Amino acid sequence: MRYLTAGESHGKQLTTIIEGIPSNMQIVKEDINASLLRRQKGHGRGKRMQIEKDLVEITSGIRHGYTIGSPISLVIHNDDFKHWLDVMGEDPIEEDTKIRRTVSRPRPGHADLNGALKYGHRDMRNVLERSSARETAARVAAGAVAKTMLKQLGIEVTAYVKEIAGIRASEDSSLSIEDRKMIAEESPVRTLDKSVEKSMMDAIDKAKKDGDSIGGVVEVYVEGMPAGVGSYVHYDRKLDSRIAGSVISINAFKGVEFGIGFEAARKNGSQVHDEIAWNEEDGYYRKTNRLGGFEGGMTTGMPIVVKGVMKPIPTLYKPLQSIDIETKEPFNASVERSDSCAVPAASVVMEHVVAFELARAITEQFPSDQFPTLQKAVADYREEIRCF
Ligand SMILES: Cc1cc2nc3c(=O)[nH]c(=O)nc-3n(C[C@H](O)[C@H](O)[C@H](O)COP(=O)(O)O)c2cc1C
Repeated sequence: MRYLTAGESHGKQLTTIIEGIPSNMQIVKEDINASLLRRQKGHGRGKRMQIEKDLVEITSGIRHGYTIGSPISLVIHNDDFKHWLDVMGEDPIEEDTKIRRTVSRPRPGHADLNGALKYGHRDMRNVLERSSARETAARVAAGAVAKTMLKQLGIEVTAYVKEIAGIRASEDSSLSIEDRKMIAEESPVRTLDKSVEKSMMDAIDKAKKDGDSIGGVVEVYVEGMPAGVGSYVHYDRKLDSRIAGSVISINAFKGVEFGIGFEAARKNGSQVHDEIAWNEEDGYYRKTNRLGGFEGGMTTGMPIVVKGVMKPIPTLYKPLQSIDIETKEPFNASVERSDSCAVPAASVVMEHVVAFELARAITEQFPSDQFPTLQKAVADYREEIRCF
């Protein structure tokens, strides 16, 4: 399984092409639209999310509610494109119009300057249009297909916000995955801890008022992954490493933790490792889940618990200094339309990015040309390892 995305933030559309989804798997566009809608919500999102109402158009790979084994292509139209026809059109334009519209002022914290240097763009719009987090809508679409597959294999994935601007949600490990989903969905900041919800929202409002931005920590929680998915034999087959890479590839994500994560550095081994137990019904399990569902690059069968750290959004109404690449003069970085905090939305992105890696690992490990065969293979494997 793999996917590619294409499209600029203010271009005509975003396109996702997914290869490797088994044939004969049930899927409808509502499965994808529900995910896209969740990405657009959250306290602190800016005007762009009011303009775009993301809905998917399926242009290949699905017939009559089932996958057919060929590449699945998904299109999300940018409603805003109609206002950007002359800026983003593909036809040549007059040289002086081009010069007038050139973006020569790189914004700190964005891809603008490095991308311009790499691709030789004197107009940095060529960089910012593609490096924008608008692309995460296309990634959520791919992840929604993966999530649909996982669900039919008995694997559930969800995500919520653990921390915004230093305000931390408390742990409640007794919550079921269904509760986690429901509570997060009802919260404007996707937190499971009602007692900090208001403070998080206040922090977002304050950042907005101050012309600043804030970041946070999000958690993805997965139940139902069988033990032994991934591999210990090569670095690029370790599933935790693939997940970590895919999380860091999300715009503005700067760190990843599994289970107790960085806290492990401060504890003794006896307080970190999870003791192994067995019973007839569940097979092997761990008495605790401090390692967050991974040992040796493979799943343990315990819930996967992975956190991602999002930096504060780099576009600030309070300007930061930068250098104009035409004049080499300093200037105060100007503001494009921006969110003040996108942590709740980013949790939905991370959920989908992780889901894609899980589904990919499953299709590599089990026969996956046809979905019913895959379903049977996963069910047989679960039974096999229970009494192993
Ligand atoms: C869901 C989401 C929404 C984002 N919205 C904005 C935004 O409105 N303004 C902004 O400056 N950055 C936003 N970002 C972050 C930037 O896209 C990101 O910081 C930038 O592309 C540079 O990449 P890097 O931070 O990974 O180095 C958003 C990120 C995510 C995940």
